[in-house]
Amino acid sequence: MANYDLIVIGTGPGGYVAAIRAAQLGLKTAVVEKRATHGGTCLNVGCIPSKALLFASEKFEEAGHSFAGMGINVSAPKLDLAAMQAFKDKGVDGNVKGVEFLLKKNKIDVHFGTAKILGTGKVEVTANADGAKQVLETKNILIATGSDVAQLPGVTIDEEKVVSSTGALALKKVPGKLVVVGAGVIGLELGSVWRRLGAEVTVVEYLDRILPGMDGEVAKSFQRILAKQGFGFKLGTKVTGVETKGKGLKVSVEPAAGGEAEVLDADVVLVAIGRVAYTQGLGLAEAGVETDKRGRVVVDKHYKTNVDGIYAIGDVIAGPMLAHKAEDEGMALAETLAGKAGHVNYDVIPGVVYTFPEVASVGKTEEELKEAGIAYNVGKFPFTANGRAKVNNTTDGFVKFLADAATDKVLGCHIIGPEAGEMIHEVCVLMEFGGSSEDLARTCHAHPTRSEAVKEAALAVEKRAIHF
Ligand code: FAD
Ligand code: NAI
Repeated sequence: MANYDLIVIGTGPGGYVAAIRAAQLGLKTAVVEKRATHGGTCLNVGCIPSKALLFASEKFEEAGHSFAGMGINVSAPKLDLAAMQAFKDKGVDGNVKGVEFLLKKNKIDVHFGTAKILGTGKVEVTANADGAKQVLETKNILIATGSDVAQLPGVTIDEEKVVSSTGALALKKVPGKLVVVGAGVIGLELGSVWRRLGAEVTVVEYLDRILPGMDGEVAKSFQRILAKQGFGFKLGTKVTGVETKGKGLKVSVEPAAGGEAEVLDADVVLVAIGRVAYTQGLGLAEAGVETDKRGRVVVDKHYKTNVDGIYAIGDVIAGPMLAHKAEDEGMALAETLAGKAGHVNYDVIPGVVYTFPEVASVGKTEEELKEAGIAYNVGKFPFTANGRAKVNNTTDGFVKFLADAATDKVLGCHIIGPEAGEMIHEVCVLMEFGGSSEDLARTCHAHPTRSEAVKEAALAVEKRAIHF
């Protein structure tokens, strides 16, 4: 007889949420985690620590640059990086302890160790503490092992000078010159942190644009804002090598399309060119679990692998590598296992870049709509015309709606501006209910709020914005 209904491998946002939901629904559940703490990449070395440093470095920059303009005279702020890192660590600690508490509260058995799947219904756990092995039996296994840093061929990450996001979150000194490889979310968020704290940041990106996948107009406008802040960009450029020279680094780059090579000086190089599914040591091949060309576990629409009783969710399967996507899949899977109708709507998964200003988006981009041949209307409203933004002197950015030309159904929304990551959610709810720009335009919005720009952009779809 199986000991458990469900064993979850990995307690990142996908795994721990799946475990809690399964326990709520009465399934006897255990988790196996190989880190010393729960929360996975997101809580330990991802979303949470990066947002702590983004928050603190934003305050630092504000104190240095924006206070005087509001009549607040303070002497130039001094950075105590060790204290800022301690602030970050305290935030992480609070969050991972929160997950520990929730697992306990839901009576979930916790095994700290490395899991290997021995086949349907059998998971071997090698304990972190003493290396002892035990085999757990279960009706169902959930692979929620997440992802790891993608390596740049020929460049060795030492997490001191050549760092991944993990090292970049733990630097002990502000680098004089930081070269970021990859103008994706990690590069721009962590680049922002170190630029605000004093580094000269140059971002080298292979493509001819930043944030591939985001709406092109939004990415272009965001790049201009970042350049104004002092970011240097080398687009359409590839890194061919990183060499240590004395105390510094020499980064060799050349145009992606071919051309003359160049060498950039750096104190630290951040490699942020994406992440790859993490399945090392899980025993997938032996268990016969299929993976795709990129090493991701292949699942059907109910998250089942090709092997009965084995499921997978989160970063280890296809789709956006986002914590909330992993969480929602965890909920859906647990509900399906408990005989309910678990479901994730992949058309309404918001994405947020937590820089200043923030960039938030949901649904389709203009490029995607054009490619799909869908006729659409655009409604745009700039924050320069929003009263609250004006009075707070934070007018960079805009809200952009994309609505079906025939039905007015909202197909996408893209926002650049402070708090965009909070503002996007009213559009997510609207889209979840199949709403139109007219629906949003007729919804009363409190004044004075930045969210009025969302309503005005919805009005602008029919060219009737009031304040622009
Ligand atoms: P993970 O969080 O990676 O968890 C997997 C867990 O499985 C890990 O704890 C691992 O130790 C464990 N594990 C692996 N193999 C085994 C094994 N064999 N046995 C036992 N345990 C195992 N996403 C957002 O939505 N918002 C953000 O702001 C954001 N910021 C990020 C910032 C950074 C710097 C990074 C790197 C990522 C960020 N992400 C963000 C992405 C987010 O962290 C991931 O999408 C999310 O963590 C995926 O969750 P998961 O549960 O699938 O996997
Ligand atoms: P990413 O996929 O967002 O960006 C990687 C960038 O590197 C791309 O622009 C790509 O074109 C470029 N690139 C790839 N190879 C290159 C090369 N050889 N030379 C130069 N550029 C190259 O990946 P990133 O930023 O590493 O983030 C990984 C994952 O973590 C993402 O999937 C993201 O969703 C998630 N994440 C989410 C955050 C959020 O939601 N706020 C924050 C941080 C990470």
